[in-house]
Amino acid sequence: MTEYYSTKTNFFGNSNPEKLIKEFGSPLYVYNEKILRQRCKDMKNLVDYPHFIPNYSIKANSNLQIIKIVREEGLRADAMSAGEIQLLLYAGYKPEELFFVPNNVSEAELKYAVDNGVLVSVDSLSQLELLGKINPGGKAAIRFNPGVGAGHHEKVVTAGKKTKFGVNIDCVEQVKEIAKKYNLKICGVNQHIGSLFMEGDSYIEGVKSILAVAEQFEDIEFVDMGGGFGIPYKKQEGQAALDLVSFREKLSKVLEEWTDKYGKKILFKSEPGRYIVAECGVLLGTVYATKNNYAHKYVGTDIGFNVLARPVMYDSHHDIEVYRNGKPLNEDDTEEVTVVGNICESGDIIAKDRVLPVIKEGDILGIMDAGAYGFAMSSNYNMRLRPAEILIKENGDAVLIRRRDTFEDLIAPFNV
Ligand code: LLP
Repeated sequence: MTEYYSTKTNFFGNSNPEKLIKEFGSPLYVYNEKILRQRCKDMKNLVDYPHFIPNYSIKANSNLQIIKIVREEGLRADAMSAGEIQLLLYAGYKPEELFFVPNNVSEAELKYAVDNGVLVSVDSLSQLELLGKINPGGKAAIRFNPGVGAGHHEKVVTAGKKTKFGVNIDCVEQVKEIAKKYNLKICGVNQHIGSLFMEGDSYIEGVKSILAVAEQFEDIEFVDMGGGFGIPYKKQEGQAALDLVSFREKLSKVLEEWTDKYGKKILFKSEPGRYIVAECGVLLGTVYATKNNYAHKYVGTDIGFNVLARPVMYDSHHDIEVYRNGKPLNEDDTEEVTVVGNICESGDIIAKDRVLPVIKEGDILGIMDAGAYGFAMSSNYNMRLRPAEILIKENGDAVLIRRRDTFEDLIAPFNV
């Protein structure tokens, strides 16, 4: 189910990194359709329970073609902003297939969701009041904070006693009072404890705590258990994938037992982002310079933190492959280098003190597992153009699914 892929085994379809960069430019985000579809299937199979559906969290990768494929695979979707709702509707989703999970948004943004028929989950009592004023007599969901969180970095732990997210679980009575005041029906509860766990037990503990909250409401139609499913970013060191087989057994049992106790079969949802898209994406870039600055060898590329922010923002590790003449370099001849981008900040580092095959100018680097929170977090910092995105289709052909920015894109907002 969670088999590894390797770029050495046909990731680039009928092409290779060198040809792709020649055709589409550098840097370049490359996505593999087959892996994307497989990850959607894995998530649909997460539990052995008849009423379960994953909602893809499009913040991880909001490329329109990626969203359309995820939709074809039968996943629903989560939105974080009015912009994401708009994009999802544009991609062909129906309002009832969407779930809006914002925090700290304006009345106008909440109203946008309500007017478009998208169910909102509020994340504070203040926002519940606001939703009640906008949509009296309507439906609402509540994002709770179970008091414990998880995640690969403190910046992505999204529950617990030191985060801004969710309504405290001891506020159920206040939620009910506000709901009564505006005649709101609380139809669902949700949580998201954090991003990237590699063993399922923390998630299952989180699920148990949201179920304990859910049973305090009479008319719950669904429980959304959140996202956070990790992928192994250190495959080159042999890191194991999340064991979805034993996870499935344990989680299914918890859900069965709880619905028996609750007395009716309700819908369970999850909100995966990273798991769906991380492994189908490789970021290609070009080495333009190498140098020895005192004790360190630097490999200078066009992969600045405007293109991939994760290493700088969270000290995240991405495996790196090196290609020359269209083929991966073999790893016999290696050295320790620091791989940097072209942004004028010294923190612009993709990989520090990494042992890689000996690299020279003109080589192409592949930054692995870059499909999630890669392009989605890119920017025009230093007036750089965001890269193109391409898709390697199931038949092996490469197609452009977002063109590279142009100078006109950069200056358009100044035309006021
Ligand atoms: N649901 C909610 C409410 C979320 O806030 C998030 C992610 C997700 C679902 C999806 O989580 P996932 O399955 O992708 O872990 N930029 C960071 C990750 C930030 C995640 C924020 N929330 C990174 O690059 O690691």
